Amino acid sequence: MSNIIVLGAQWGDEGKGKIVDLFSERFDIVARYQGGHNAGHTVYIGSNKYILKLIPSGILRPGKLAVIGNGVVVDPAALMEEIETLERAGIDVRNQLAISNRAHVILPYHRLVERISEDSPDRVKIGTTSRGIGPAYEDKVGRRGIRMADFIEPKAFSALYASVRRDKQAVAKAFGLAAADEDVLDRYLDLAARIRPMVKDTALLLNRAVRDGKRIMLEGAQGTMLDIDHGTYPFVTSSSAAAGGACTGTGLAPTRISGVVGVSKAYITRVGAGPFPSEASDDYGERIRKAGNEFGSVTGRPRRCGWFDAPLLRYTAAVNGFDSLILTKLDVLDGLSEIKVCVGYKLNGSVLDEMPPRVQDLADVEPVYQTVPGWTTPTHGATSYEALPAAARDYVKFLESLTEVEVGCVSTGPERNQTMVIRGSRLEQLVS
Ligand code: GDP
Ligand code: IMO
Ligand code: MG
Repeated sequence: MSNIIVLGAQWGDEGKGKIVDLFSERFDIVARYQGGHNAGHTVYIGSNKYILKLIPSGILRPGKLAVIGNGVVVDPAALMEEIETLERAGIDVRNQLAISNRAHVILPYHRLVERISEDSPDRVKIGTTSRGIGPAYEDKVGRRGIRMADFIEPKAFSALYASVRRDKQAVAKAFGLAAADEDVLDRYLDLAARIRPMVKDTALLLNRAVRDGKRIMLEGAQGTMLDIDHGTYPFVTSSSAAAGGACTGTGLAPTRISGVVGVSKAYITRVGAGPFPSEASDDYGERIRKAGNEFGSVTGRPRRCGWFDAPLLRYTAAVNGFDSLILTKLDVLDGLSEIKVCVGYKLNGSVLDEMPPRVQDLADVEPVYQTVPGWTTPTHGATSYEALPAAARDYVKFLESLTEVEVGCVSTGPERNQTMVIRGSRLEQLVS
């Protein structure tokens, strides 16, 4: 048995899509466990670029099963659009995709509620992706959500929709907004009919697959610092992106998980609002944004860029129990004469031993930096650890010592082959 969780160790966009696609060759099933089409996981295969939002990155491997777990919130219109885009690229999505009958559905009124919240002058503006993600999870926890199993039954869906529609219209009216248009029900009944053949009891499917000796990779969306419980609340997403969410979000039992792998950039980025201790608001930040092409794959927003944050990584390693860390985008640091690493936080002059739970404290911390030498020989595209310039290897070792987690793989470019798995690492065992 070797079922693993691969998830973001920072604030998202760590390169999970590339890594999941790469290792999915060695697994039978790839399952998403949370989030929705707020995610944007980029995969390059030769000259083709794919941005996966709701569908697991394993879909790009012929014959592999991709599962959208019960913990995901599914916008039926976005799902069909993604399926059709992939089908146009020749991918046999309908035969490779299973969607949980317990996943909750995002409807147009969720986007409306999100707009009200984000535009309200009295509330904190999170800088969300405007996809209706938070309000859909609110309805789930509030026990008024609509699940796939009901969505695909026309009578059940029509009745449930009628029961929530009045409430949502009242909210819209109170804020002077037009309520959802009249043809929503018809449009969504049509989408439901198209999605119905792919809806399954995926928890059962996954547990049976394990019983039959199949290997499963669980793909996280967002990152641990955006997790609803462990992230920089309230500047988070509304789901459990950390490893714990992988079991509740798929129904795969915790006893079936063999390893947890974190994906981290060799620096760090964040999209949207919220504290960011090691943010480089100077020329370096701009240089990294350019070199790393740090613009949101879903929204196109420029990502905020900063130096590798070791206290943050130690925290996410602890809450996830990382067996191994995959370091991506090392090549983006090529050519810097020196590289800063945040090695600690100080608050009011004292060194902090833990991640402060209050965002105001995290916003006020003073990052403690250590500067290490950069490298001039490019690492871009390198496939052998031994062939990396000595300063790049020293940098990897330094991050390993600061985080106390092995670096099991280094990525040096967006393509599948621009990667090296470190021989003898725990990661190598987990994926071979
Ligand atoms: P995800 O959301 O974690 O899957 O990450 P995104 O796809 O949103 O953002 C990562 C970006 O970095 C994508 O454009 C990838 O193609 C790219 N990428 C991934 N790994 C590397 C790498 O090692 N080097 C470089 N230069 N780009 C990479
Ligand atoms: P992937 O899977 C980076 C951020 C948004 C916002 C906050 C809440 O590609 O790594 P939401 O729409 O989820 O309610 O927004 O979370 N966010 C992400 N940032 N990568 C993502 O996904 C993100 N998904 C949401 O920018 O700050
Ligand atoms: Mg992304």
